Amino acid sequence: MSADDDARRLQVADPTGWFEKLYAEAEAGTASVPWDVPQPQPHLVEWADGVDGTGRRALVVGCGYGRDAEFLASLGFEVTAFDISPTAIAAVRERHPDSSVSYVVADLLDPPAQWRRAFDLVVENMTVQALPVALHAEATEQVAALTGGELLVLAVARDEGPDPDGPPWPLTPAEVEAFAGDGLAPRSIRRDNGRWVAEFVRQVAMN
Ligand SMILES: C[S@@+](CC[C@H](N)C(=O)[O-])C[C@H]1O[C@@H](n2cnc3c(N)ncnc32)[C@H](O)[C@@H]1O
Repeated sequence: MSADDDARRLQVADPTGWFEKLYAEAEAGTASVPWDVPQPQPHLVEWADGVDGTGRRALVVGCGYGRDAEFLASLGFEVTAFDISPTAIAAVRERHPDSSVSYVVADLLDPPAQWRRAFDLVVENMTVQALPVALHAEATEQVAALTGGELLVLAVARDEGPDPDGPPWPLTPAEVEAFAGDGLAPRSIRRDNGRWVAEFVRQVAMN
């Protein structure tokens, strides 16, 4: 059975709980996690060209095994990274025992109140698309609310049309544009090789 089949089998009627089951099975050696790759997301690496994170706080949403979080830490960011799966967070801490990243178990759909607009940079890489379409609007709103400065959204793209039989549930143009709520403005939204690379920035209120 492929890693994608493992993910699909465990998703049945449990939109967020199946991640923990998948990570637990992976720890037991009976399943593999499709996104368990060592290198950071290439579009994040491209975005980061010339970026110095020194003195800036970054938040990585749905961090999994920490590939993007570790990369941002290497750029000097003070990184917090969270995932709903306690097993994933235990595993990432074990993989990176000397990491400067603060790895936290948290739910995007109910994040800690003190995180609201607390981060200079938020990176959302494939978490919203891992949730059923019915949860996309709520998850998107939460991602935007965590962003104090810039937001980078990386996701698989699809056209408008009938909902796919996920997971995953790639994002439509309207779903990507929806991150521009709650005071965030789009800086650039592009589609590259079937993926969204979308940047948003919080607008400063002028008095
Ligand atoms: C497709 S994986 C992507 C992982 C990571 N961003 C990467 O690219 O390696 C989606 C991740 O989001 C996490 N996740 C799903 N729902 C979540 C939620 N409500 N809150 C926090 N994390 C969540 C899953 O446990 C999983 O690690």
